[in-house]
This record gives sequence, C-alpha cells and structure tokens, in this order.
Amino acid sequence: MNPDAAEQFRIVILGHVDHGKSTLVGRLLHDTGSLPEGRLEQLQLAARRRGVPFEWANLMDALQAERDQNISIDTAQIWFRTPRRRYVIIDVPGHHEFLKNMVTGAAQAEAALMLIDAREGVRENTRRHGFLLEFLGLRQVIVLVNKMDLLNYAPEPFRALEAEYRAWLQALGLQPRLFLPISAWHGDNLAAPSPRMPWWRGPTVAEALDQFEAVPPPADQPLRFPVQDVYRFDERRILAGRIESGRLKVGDRLVFVPGYKTSTVRSLERWNGPARTVAEAGESIGLTLTEQIFVERGAVGAPEDAPPYALTRFRARVFWLGKQPFAPGRAYRLKLATQEAACQIEHIERVIDAATLQPLERPGAPGVHRHEAAELTLRTRKPIAFDPRAEIAALGRFVIVDGFNLAGGGVILDDRYPRRTADSLHKSPNIYWTVGRVTAAQRARAHGHAGRVVWLTGLSGSGKTTLAIELERELFERGQWVYVLDGDNVRHGLCADLAFSPADRRENIRRVGEVARLFADAGVICVTAFISPYRADRDAIRRSLPPGQFVEVYLNAPLAVCEQRDAKGLYAKARAGEISDFTGVSAPYEPPEHPELELPTAELGVDECVARLRDFLAGLEEPAAE
Ligand code: ADX
Repeated sequence: MNPDAAEQFRIVILGHVDHGKSTLVGRLLHDTGSLPEGRLEQLQLAARRRGVPFEWANLMDALQAERDQNISIDTAQIWFRTPRRRYVIIDVPGHHEFLKNMVTGAAQAEAALMLIDAREGVRENTRRHGFLLEFLGLRQVIVLVNKMDLLNYAPEPFRALEAEYRAWLQALGLQPRLFLPISAWHGDNLAAPSPRMPWWRGPTVAEALDQFEAVPPPADQPLRFPVQDVYRFDERRILAGRIESGRLKVGDRLVFVPGYKTSTVRSLERWNGPARTVAEAGESIGLTLTEQIFVERGAVGAPEDAPPYALTRFRARVFWLGKQPFAPGRAYRLKLATQEAACQIEHIERVIDAATLQPLERPGAPGVHRHEAAELTLRTRKPIAFDPRAEIAALGRFVIVDGFNLAGGGVILDDRYPRRTADSLHKSPNIYWTVGRVTAAQRARAHGHAGRVVWLTGLSGSGKTTLAIELERELFERGQWVYVLDGDNVRHGLCADLAFSPADRRENIRRVGEVARLFADAGVICVTAFISPYRADRDAIRRSLPPGQFVEVYLNAPLAVCEQRDAKGLYAKARAGEISDFTGVSAPYEPPEHPELELPTAELGVDECVARLRDFLAGLEEPAAE
C-alpha cells in the first residue's frame, strides 16, 4: 500500500469541458505550488515555439498525456497539495471513466467539485451532473461558479445561480457544503482570496477542500470480501481481494456467497512484511482457509450470520450512457464487485430524464436511452451476491456492459428480498426468510411501544423469576404487551430434552433467544428469566436483534445470599453432591461485562428493583416511525 494513503484525499471534478475544468486543474496545481520545478516554464516555452498562446488547460492536457503513458500508479495520478494534505484528482473526462470509477471502489472519490459557468446558468448538463453525484453516493460537494471575471465579479448573478442550483440539488437530496465564486483563468479564490471579489467572505477552494473530512472505510459493517483472484502455491491456495467492508481475522468462519461454501480463515498473507492476524475495510489482502473449498473469482466472503443476498433478480436504479438504448429482450453483462454475469431487463418501472427528473412515457418502445435513468428489475443468468446500496455501498453498485462498452451504472434498491440463511446450524440450506407486510413501526404504533427482549441473567436464587413476574404485571397494567419466558417453564416443554451440561445450556439459551426474538419481532416486550451462564450465548442473542432491542439486566447477588435463600433446596442438594453441574457450585457463571442495567438484588427490595427496571425501560428511545 502507498505509505501516503492515509493523508490522501480523493476528489472528483465534474463539469463540462467548456466550463473551464482543465483550466481549473492547471491553475490549482500551480497556485498551490504543486507543480514540479520548471514544468510551467517548459510548457510556456513549448507554446511560444509553436506560436500559440499558453493556456492553463494545456498543463492539464500535458499531464494527462503523461499519465496515460505511464505505467506506475503513483506518478499516474494528478494531485496537488494544501497545508493539510494531498489531493488526488480522479478525473472524469468522459462517461467511461465515470462508470469505471463507480465499480472500482479503490478509486471512489470522497468529495466532489462541481464546476458551472457563471454566464450559462444551470443547463441540462449541470443538472445531469447533480444526478450523477447522487448516484455515486457522493455527499461532500462544493459547487464552483466559474468565469466570474466575465461578469465583472458581481455578486448578484452568483447568488441567483446558487439559489437555482441549490434548489435542484436539494430535490435530489443533496446538500452542497458551499457555492464558491471563482475565476479559474485568473486564479481568483483558488488558493488565495481574490482582491476582485471583496464581497466574498467565504473560504478559497483549497481552504474549503481542507474542511472536508475523510470518509473512513466502512469497517463496522458486516464483512464483504470479494475474491479477485485465487493463487495456487503447492498445496496452498491464496484468495486475494480487497476488503470492501467489515473486518476479518484468523479463525473467523466465513461463508462464500453465492456458492454458500464455508471455511475458516487460517492465515492472512502479505506479499511482503510481517504476518498478521487482522485486516479491515479498505485493505487488499490474501488469505488461506483451513478446509479446502472450491472458491473462485467473484465469490464474496462474509460472516455466516450476515451474508449478502444471492439472487438472480433485484430492483435497481440505472443511469444509462450507452449509444444504444438499454432495452428489454437484449442480453448485457453485469459487473458487481468482482462478479460478472449475463443479465437482462425483466421489467421497467419508470424511466426519467436525468436533466429534468420528469417521467418519460415511451409507449411501444420501452427502453432506457442515453442520459436517462430508470427504476427497473434486472435478472441475471446466475445468482449474484449483493446488498442494497443503502446497506453496504460497495456491494450495491454495478455497471452494465453492452457488447464491449461500459454503457450504464446502477445501484441496487432496497426491497423485500428473500434472504437465505447460511449458517452451519442449518441442516437445510435451501430455506429463505419471508418478509411480512406488517412493519415493526406499524406494530410499535399499535402497541404504543417497540418490541424488546429484557434479558434477566444471574445465579439461581438471584431473583430472576420473581422480578420477571412482577415486572410483567406492572407493564401489563400500563397497557403494554409483555410476556415472561421462564427457565423452569420452558424446560417443561420446548427444552424438555435438555439437561445442564454446557452443551445443553447453550442449546437451551439458543432456543430461548430465538423465541424471545420472535416475541420482540411481534412487538411484545419479552422478559426472560434464565441463569444463562455463558457470556457468548447472551452476546449472540444481542447480535441477532436490532440495535437497542436487547436489554441485558444483571441480577447481581452474592452466591452466599442465593445459597441461603435456596427456595427449591437445590443448593443443598448440589453441595451434597446429588446434583452435578450446579451453577455457582460446580459449574461456572460469567457475569455480563456491559449490562444495560445491574440490580444488586441482595441489597434492594423487589419493589425498588421493579421500579428501576420500569424506569429504565420507559427511558429507552422508541424506534423512529417509518
Ligand atoms: S440455564 O443455565 O440453562 O440458563 P435455566 O435458567 O434454564 O438454566 O434453569 C435454571 C433452573 O433450573 C434453576 O433455577 C434451578 O431451579 C434448576 N436447576 C436444576 N438443575 C440445575 C443445575 N445443575 N444448575 C442450575 N440450575 C439447575
């Protein structure tokens, strides 16, 4: 990896050539002092020799020509430096580049400069560029209003343009950070404030860029590791690729989608440098697996409990740039992360003009023409691993290839996709999760509260059952939907086949966790009373619920007090050796490390404990309505 990578900030410049893009880049490089020594003079001299006037745009063209011939990535970049950091310009000269950038996440820009011509106002192209930004998911945007010199640096036209374009971008859900008046030709407000626009009190372009924050790679999302290549060395097979989201460590169990083969990470390989055991989003790595499974380029490594979808049909918004329209009945190729598949349009919901956002009616000739966008359903010949764009961006965008040309870009929309469960617990892999038509928000509105799991944990005799029953009555009397699951009770039926070995307890808690989750899904407050001695088991239930819906309550009473209470006489039996594996006596209890609530039940009365529980629950934020 490039040692500088951390302080590099990638920007994209969108704008019509005539709006002064090349001039802007040339001038930015010069004004920020980022040009190599003598480079400017050299070009000026060359222009003079050819008898043509020197133009800033020439500089950019010269650099670009060099870049196109250069094979080393590092020097192939056009960049400039401010006091804060180095900016790499991902040029978008043509649509082809734009589409390429859309799939190669590595080149994904963090911010955009949009260039508009102050004299021209908001034209079709400018509107389309706004649309593209939204499409790329770029949210950090500065709009540069160029050629202010041709308007005598007057503030009025600038303000009028800002009002018009801001309204347009807002309609797309974009909120540009700033509109900035410049003259690229004269260098006004690029790296130094312009004396010709004293009315402008805002920052220069360089200062405005410096205010943007780098977007961290999405390490906190579920792992997505698209396999780029598989290398064979002797017996070993190394899977190489870039981690698009999440993290990965040696020992992790992974499922490779869409094949659903599972294996465990045995080692992380680096081509040079010390071995390591962890890696995260943004890193390119190689890894080996413990069990040899068949994985090829395109497969996406993911956690077993949070895999991507793997389907042959999905809804998408597509932006079309191809010369030939994107039409039903024709075959295309789809590229998503490192996957490729034949695809076709199954159904077009609507087509809109990207410059006006107006729906287009085209009866008789359905299809998406150049510069149009559409919402549609695509069908691929083989299953594709994906996530909706709103969930994991890198697995939610794709390009469409028509013949040999990149012709369109798309993002996958949210929908009620069936999710196959890929988890080693499942004996049958061919099962899908069905999504109902009643939403959690609708249930919450009907009940007046969200569904939750209130998980009481603690030693036998710590008061779990007593508190659960009292809390249930209190909440019920307040009109809430509440139900208790109690250890002894479920062991009469659902878990009648389980005893108290570690494996049986784990299975007991797993089943109860599943039932509690269903109750919470039904919008009920499910209060559970189980010793649940293992931290890992409780944490697994926490992870299976939406954030905030698992409330872990630790009933912390000293063993001596529990033993003294001994309501069922079981401690006495355990001490006498008549019961084996008894928690606290001959089996372990692992207290929660970060419970939502801790109740010292040996010190507080039942009423006080119930009051604290009730108050805690009342203070929880209800999930936002949809
Ligand atoms: S857990 O460990 O699997 O969570 P659970 O809460 O369902 O246990 O059941 C605990 C109850 O079972 C205790 O309150 C006690 O009445 C009874 N019990 C019987 N044998 C044992 C044992 N060996 N250890 C703990 N509890 C036991």
